[in-house]
Amino acid sequence: MAVNKLFGAISALSLLLLLSSFGCKAQLSPTFYDYTCPNALTTIRSTIRSAISCERRLAASLIRLHFHDCFVQGCDGSVLLDETPTIQSEKTSKANNDSARGFNVIEDAKTAVEKICPGVVSCADILAVAARDSSAAVGGPSWTVKLGRRDSTTASRSLADSDLPAPFHQLDRLITLFSNKGFTPREMVALSGAHTVGQAQCFTFQQRIYSNGADIDAGFASTRRRRCPPTGRNSNLAPLDLVTPNQFDNNYYKNLVQKKGLLISDQTLFNGSSTDNFVTEYSQNPQTFSSDFSAAMIKMGDLSPLTGQDGIIRRVCSAIN
Ligand code: HEM
Ligand SMILES: *[C@@H]1O[C@H](CO)[C@@H](O)[C@H](O)[C@H]1NC(C)=O
Ligand SMILES: *[C@@H]1O[C@H](CO)[C@@H](O)[C@H](O)[C@H]1NC(C)=O
Repeated sequence: MAVNKLFGAISALSLLLLLSSFGCKAQLSPTFYDYTCPNALTTIRSTIRSAISCERRLAASLIRLHFHDCFVQGCDGSVLLDETPTIQSEKTSKANNDSARGFNVIEDAKTAVEKICPGVVSCADILAVAARDSSAAVGGPSWTVKLGRRDSTTASRSLADSDLPAPFHQLDRLITLFSNKGFTPREMVALSGAHTVGQAQCFTFQQRIYSNGADIDAGFASTRRRRCPPTGRNSNLAPLDLVTPNQFDNNYYKNLVQKKGLLISDQTLFNGSSTDNFVTEYSQNPQTFSSDFSAAMIKMGDLSPLTGQDGIIRRVCSAIN
């Protein structure tokens, strides 16, 4: 009888294991490295923190890198791959060329993690953790990062060109691009709040500041014109949030209400249309923004990850093994 029960328990258990390994698609989990690399997260965090203490803007750059990874083939580390005869790097796509940055920090975190547990932690997961740690390091929200993503062996410049939004996009186009990834307009407005930190180059906002439209504060436009000529691919920087460019807060939304959004894609979220009420709400309620941003970042981190036997664990993030 006891033996029968034992057998029953064992076969139930093996059925469960079988189902979890083959039966259904593996899920990301916050505890994924708890046994295989228990110090992974603290190791990543110390690399991220020391980089941000040298250059605060890197927090912004790393948050953006995770976004640009996830929107192209899912969160698979594809944005980190260099060009080879078989890989068309996303680094030279329209949105990333001479713009995406922070690659060395991710590579440094990877090196540190490889030292303690070689071949275990993916670059895609490091990007997700780095984005969270970056937000927390500059006063933004923190959240529990789900883990277990694996790295791609491919990248796609053409998907980067088609799936990433551009600074000149208007609301309807942005809504389409984000809805293609499963996001509501409200979630898109929350995610855009990442523009509370970081910088943009002149060529990304010159069209807006020389438009003389009623959608831009005149004083703000004239200030921005001083360091940004009307034409040419000028790379002079301006803060995305003019009030607190290095602090993760809700001033981004307050700026939009005052028509002081830097990019067309920023101001179009508050321009007499369907998303105005979300901008107003976030401008008045930083708590709501914080929790909506966190939830949307977790959702972004869930975009078609490679799990189980799919993909690889890269030894270095810029190349396949
Ligand atoms: C809504 C559509 C979006 C558009 C059109 C857009 C576009 C841009 C552009 C043009 C820049 C400046 C790049 C440069 O001048 O080199 C930028 C910077 C940035 N973006 Fe976005 N972005 C969008 C959404 C997002 C989202 C969803 C996130 C993250 C959740 C994000 C995070 C950032 C950050 C943090 C920076 C500053 C990066 C730095 O200083 O290095 N953006 N974005
Ligand atoms: C990327 O930027 C470099 C340097 O500005 C430029 O020479 C190159 O043509 C750009 N590549 C693409 C694909 O646009
Ligand atoms: C705001 O709306 C006006 C009127 O429809 C339009 O001309 C302008 O381009 C819009 N601005 C932005 C930043 O979307």
